[in-house]
Amino acid sequence: MSLKLRLLAIVAGVLMLGLVADLAIILQGARQAVVDEINANLLFSRDLLGFFVSDTRHLLSREDVERLSVVFQDLRHVRVSVASSPGEWTVLNERPDAVRPPAWFEYLVVPADRDFPDIEFHGWGNASIRIQATPDDEVAEVWGEVTGLLPLMLGLVVLVCLLVYVGIWFGLAPLRGLHDGFRRLEADEFDVCLPTDAVPELADTQRRFNHLAAVLASHNAERAALMRRLVTMQEDERRSIARELHDEMGPHLFGLRSRLSALAWSAEAGDTASMPDRARAMQDGLEHLQQQVRRLLKQLRPPVLDDLGLAQALDGLVADWQRRHPEVDWVLARCDLAVMPDDAVQVTAYRAVQECLTNVARHAAATRAVVQLWTEDDARLRLDVTDNGAGQPHRLVPGMGLTGLRERVVALNGAMALESGEQGEGLRVSVTLPLTASASPDHPEPIG
Ligand SMILES: Nc1ncnc2c1ncn2[C@@H]1O[C@H](COP(=O)(O)OP(=O)(O)OP(=O)(O)O)[C@@H](O)[C@H]1O
Ligand SMILES: [Mg+2]
Repeated sequence: MSLKLRLLAIVAGVLMLGLVADLAIILQGARQAVVDEINANLLFSRDLLGFFVSDTRHLLSREDVERLSVVFQDLRHVRVSVASSPGEWTVLNERPDAVRPPAWFEYLVVPADRDFPDIEFHGWGNASIRIQATPDDEVAEVWGEVTGLLPLMLGLVVLVCLLVYVGIWFGLAPLRGLHDGFRRLEADEFDVCLPTDAVPELADTQRRFNHLAAVLASHNAERAALMRRLVTMQEDERRSIARELHDEMGPHLFGLRSRLSALAWSAEAGDTASMPDRARAMQDGLEHLQQQVRRLLKQLRPPVLDDLGLAQALDGLVADWQRRHPEVDWVLARCDLAVMPDDAVQVTAYRAVQECLTNVARHAAATRAVVQLWTEDDARLRLDVTDNGAGQPHRLVPGMGLTGLRERVVALNGAMALESGEQGEGLRVSVTLPLTASASPDHPEPIG
């Protein structure tokens, strides 16, 4: 059931309870009124009759009866009868039958002891006078009041319910706005901003909603930018490989082919003297080609990882930088791999160290760079590359290197953070990766 109907049902229920309580009060009042009225009329009739017949010491004549009828004819709730001879009662105040209410109503209004005692006068000649209570017309009167009032009250209940429904409809407008907002977020429309000044109770929720929409919008924009960059990087990588193949391999292959033709020609011509030189030239060409292929493979995937494993590969990398930049102290301080990470995680860690060390050499002006690698809880791989150089990561504008690294890390459901020392000196790049690579749904697993 909708919230509107629920609230309406509660209001209608309360109103109906009020209506029933009202009816109960009316009925209770009516019960008392019936008893009081009838008792009063009985007493009044008895007193009146006593006064009227006090000096009557003869048989009631027709004129007497007529006079008595005139006196009593307007008396309500009692029936006054006279009998000139035993058993022959003449009603003095005959009234037209009142409309009878339903039996249940009579049962509710007339008290259980509804049999009011008859009052009888005897002893004036043969004449007797009897006074009987007749609550029927009083009950009919109350019934008339109730049936007149009931439609009015029911109409009032319906009117109040209608007004309440309209009120609820207007009152729920901010909730409808919130609902609409969530629907738009679901449809990737993040430019939603709800007004926060309509209802104080909802203002906090609306502020949080607006904040959520803004965060989603920025994450969405960031994700789109990252995806664009990822695609661009992949394209760049392919273009570079294509260029290498074309520029480096193509001429060498062509050269090899020419030398092979020359060798064949020498062999056919019986020019054996030039054949060793030509064969050596081919050997050089092949060697060069082999180097190019190795370099390309290294770009695509560091072969040392397959040959030596991650620890030794990093060791080699650090030693390489030490050779190239002896003025800096390059250290692999820790390499504790209790559990061997997945292949993709190893490649990402290797690439991370490669990029960080290159950055140290290019931007840090550091005298020391420390690499640490260890596994945590047999579930995560932690990697820290720290230097004591320029630092100030808050001023740092990520280029392709750090952005690409972050993308690789995020793609493997990992995290990356940059921080400096307390005085803003040096830079620490921390990378956390799950040991088992499971690509995040938004990012394909990185290549090479
Ligand atoms: N260790 C470091 N110390 C000080 N500044 C650094 C360090 N590493 C990176 N930076 C700063 O961060 C910037 C971004 O680095 P990033 O590796 O993303 O790009 P890049 O090295 O400039 O270019 P490339 O795309 O070739 O890597 C650098 O230009 C440099 O200013
Ligand atoms: Mg870089």
